[in-house]
Amino acid sequence: MVNFISPSILSSDFANLAEECYNVLNAGGDRLHVDVMDGHFVPNLTLGAPILKSLVKRMKEKYATNAYYDCHLMVAEPEKWVKDFAAAGASMFTFHIEATKDPVALIQTIRGHGMAVGVSIKPGTPLSVTAGFGKTDILSMVDLALVMTVEPGFGGQSFMGDMLDKVREIRKRYPDLEIQVDGGVSVDTIKQCAEAGANNFVAGTAIFKAEDWAATIAEMKALAK
Ligand code: DX5
Ligand code: ZN
Repeated sequence: MVNFISPSILSSDFANLAEECYNVLNAGGDRLHVDVMDGHFVPNLTLGAPILKSLVKRMKEKYATNAYYDCHLMVAEPEKWVKDFAAAGASMFTFHIEATKDPVALIQTIRGHGMAVGVSIKPGTPLSVTAGFGKTDILSMVDLALVMTVEPGFGGQSFMGDMLDKVREIRKRYPDLEIQVDGGVSVDTIKQCAEAGANNFVAGTAIFKAEDWAATIAEMKALAK
């Protein structure tokens, strides 16, 4: 299975966002992880579609780069933002299972707008919730499952190792599904994530606060093999 390192731009210097993104991709980052927070679903406020749109445009015009924009929507009513994120250039739209009453309709809407679909699960949410919508197993309908390994809201928190049970369980049931872990992932924790079955690793602090981004990403990739 292909592994992805997804640097979380939450830990980048927002005043130099495009340059930071360009540099982190050059350092070996595979996909840009864009953390969208609305101050309701989580107690923090970050960025929305207008900033993504400017970033996508600048990356194209100044750096001739079509990056993969993995957007993690930590927002109430994710339905409201599908259109804007698609128009802004999002590649993937990951919503929280806790934030929507009708994930099946939401998944269809996201696909209808040409984006890949991810579904995310907070630490306190049992995996069984994803199977609780009528007869529909949500994980069988998406491109990616995001298992939060911290409480969503902030970068720089400590990794919650017990969340890897969820990763193991998903991997057992879905051998081919992309499984992303997000929160506290670093050179110290990535190996256990990979062994549990994750293949997409979000890292904010561990990469952007490192002295040598390329060396850190290379080390993470080697540990995840
Ligand atoms: C947390 C975000 C994460 C965060 C990870 O709510 O979803 O993507 O940026 O940051 P680190 O890697 O610093 O834990
Ligand atoms: Zn995230």
